[in-house]
Amino acid sequence: MRIIETKDYTDMSRKAANLIAAQIVTKPNCVLGLATGSSPIGTYDRLVEMYEQGDLDFSGISTVNLDEYKGLDRENDQSYYYFMHEHLFDRVNVVAERTNVPNGMEPDADKECKRYEELIASLGGVDLQLLGLGHNGHIGFNEPAEIFDKATHCVDLTESTIEANKRFFASVDDVPRQAYTMGIGTIMRAKKVLLVVSGEDKADIVAKAFFGDVTPQVPASILQMHPDVTVVADAAALSKI
Ligand code: GLP
Repeated sequence: MRIIETKDYTDMSRKAANLIAAQIVTKPNCVLGLATGSSPIGTYDRLVEMYEQGDLDFSGISTVNLDEYKGLDRENDQSYYYFMHEHLFDRVNVVAERTNVPNGMEPDADKECKRYEELIASLGGVDLQLLGLGHNGHIGFNEPAEIFDKATHCVDLTESTIEANKRFFASVDDVPRQAYTMGIGTIMRAKKVLLVVSGEDKADIVAKAFFGDVTPQVPASILQMHPDVTVVADAAALSKI
């Protein structure tokens, strides 16, 4: 695991975007695994700048997003589909048909999870997976659990995740209780993993996840076992290691 310390969120975003750009330049038809949340927004902004400056071409890439709330449709401004279009897809020359987000409106969880796993396999797997880190160590929506869930599955969100995400909704009752997420196995099969994390409020979980025991109680800790992980973290997020 490589840890790159950055000054602050802006610096983190620039360095993470550089690594993604390097992936796209070296393999123009690569498959990027993408993430939502506040952590990667600056990275997406920086990628858009590179595109606008003529330095990056997204026309050959495919994308697969980590997760989506179950029950939110694409037009809902809290859906991850909406987020990705707002922050990246509508701002660069990615081919819309090659962008993929789990379908939160598919009520049949088994069907949707199977479809998503098969889709990722049909693309040849993920070349670079971008991740954020939840306060409880979740990656995607893989919440602390007794076991590491291998494949894309439907999860019941924990109270702490519902609490953390309620700021984006009109009220806590509007926060969906379930989500579809790639599994830990899906994430671990990515050839490269790039995790971005910033802020003092993440310092405890950064220390636990990357310097503590590998346990499904801290889902991100499994990344210690991945052969090619880069964590780009600001000084505040690294302040407890
Ligand atoms: C959300 C997402 C995760 C994200 C995490 C942290 O619940 N499902 O993919 O990494 O929370 O979010 P943030 O970056 O806003 O702290």
